[in-house]
Amino acid sequence: MALQHDTEKVSGEAFNEVGPLGPPFPIDARVNDAGHLEIGGCDVLDVAKQFGTPSYIYAAGDLRYRARAAVKAFHDAEAKFGDGTADEPGVLFASKSFPCTAAYRLMAAEGIYCDVASGGELHLALKGGFSPERILMHGNNKTDAELEQAIAAGVGYIVIDSFDEIDRLNKLMPSDGPRTLVRVAPGIKPSTHAYIQTGQVDSKFGIPLSQVEQAIQKAPNFVGLHCHLGSQFFEVEIFKAAVEVLAGFEVDCKVVNVGGGFGIPYLEHEHPPAIDSYAEQITSAVRETFGFGAKIMVEPGRWLVGNAGVTAYTVGTVKEIPGVRRYVAVDGGMSDNIRPMLYEAEYTGVIADRAAVQADRDVRVVGMHCESGDVILPEVMLHEPNVGDTLVVPATGAYGHAMASNYNGVLRPPVVFCERGEARVVVRRETHDDLSARDVE
Ligand SMILES: Cc1ncc(COP(=O)(O)O)c(C=O)c1O
Repeated sequence: MALQHDTEKVSGEAFNEVGPLGPPFPIDARVNDAGHLEIGGCDVLDVAKQFGTPSYIYAAGDLRYRARAAVKAFHDAEAKFGDGTADEPGVLFASKSFPCTAAYRLMAAEGIYCDVASGGELHLALKGGFSPERILMHGNNKTDAELEQAIAAGVGYIVIDSFDEIDRLNKLMPSDGPRTLVRVAPGIKPSTHAYIQTGQVDSKFGIPLSQVEQAIQKAPNFVGLHCHLGSQFFEVEIFKAAVEVLAGFEVDCKVVNVGGGFGIPYLEHEHPPAIDSYAEQITSAVRETFGFGAKIMVEPGRWLVGNAGVTAYTVGTVKEIPGVRRYVAVDGGMSDNIRPMLYEAEYTGVIADRAAVQADRDVRVVGMHCESGDVILPEVMLHEPNVGDTLVVPATGAYGHAMASNYNGVLRPPVVFCERGEARVVVRRETHDDLSARDVE
């Protein structure tokens, strides 16, 4: 791809949801006078030189801006469709998307709530400064230890996913313990990859519709209903359908949580709905069906962090197979971004120091792992990639760091926050000693 040359630095309040480079790049990204890609005011080449590659590079201002935009959108929608009696809407950071202490800290400071899906994420959320009552715990198979951890921490909410969990909670839960929501499998399929659909009838998540009333009867400290349809879809209207399903149960709901999944642009031509349209659709649907009292909750993950981050790699080999294709191999791959292999997720790329130059080569970008499936960009236009080039893949801010592995003994990359021209490491690169740190002699 080729990016527009833009000399105006984007900063502070001038942000809107798409920056000068367009989707899928961070808002606070531009091509600088040297023709290099700049993220958060930092030249990506300098960041790559200083911290090495692969590196996850975030425009920290984007994270803050997106958190504010989401909170504002849901508060505005509540002011428009509510009557002022409901508790404030809760925008939860689905922290599985970026479980990084610095991200938790930043989100907590912006008035966001937090959703955790394991004892480990709960530990990180608390360490990142979330007050426990703003934390909600998920999981289709929470252990006794995790439930005890959540109760002891005093989390605000536990989302119940099964009858076995209800049995466990009925043994463990004090009457003044966390409030519970029952997760419903609403039988709705959004248009997205099958592996990230979750709200369909045949799902490992949630209580089947026919058993929801029974679950509500048995659930301790019940306050409301939850559903999560899936991830990375652009259908705003589908939330109305989900709310209508939840509203079909004869129960007093103090909380209605419709999950996350708000789609983001991974490719240049993708233009997902604005956050305000999600907020208005969800809020109007809840107010029409549940009335005015229920607190609305949503759980965006990728929407808050996905486009704020990019991955910088170094090109190590370029191989031409005559009449077939050109392979460009970089120093990372499935260990830092498993999504293309897991659910055929698509990305694009750009050479950092020729970011504004017309791309002229159709290539396949592959990783360095011992797997033929280790393909990051199956077909992408790049400007003549050469050994030593810094290749940037945008929109890796969600589920990149989160899903990273040590496959092939690869060291997991650092997370670098860039803002106003300053780059700081918030998670360091692993070392070879880290690889054996858990060994027991
Ligand atoms: C229950 C729940 N809520 C929220 C999310 C966040 O999804 P996304 O990052 O697509 O917004 C997920 C993702 O798997 C989820 O399972």
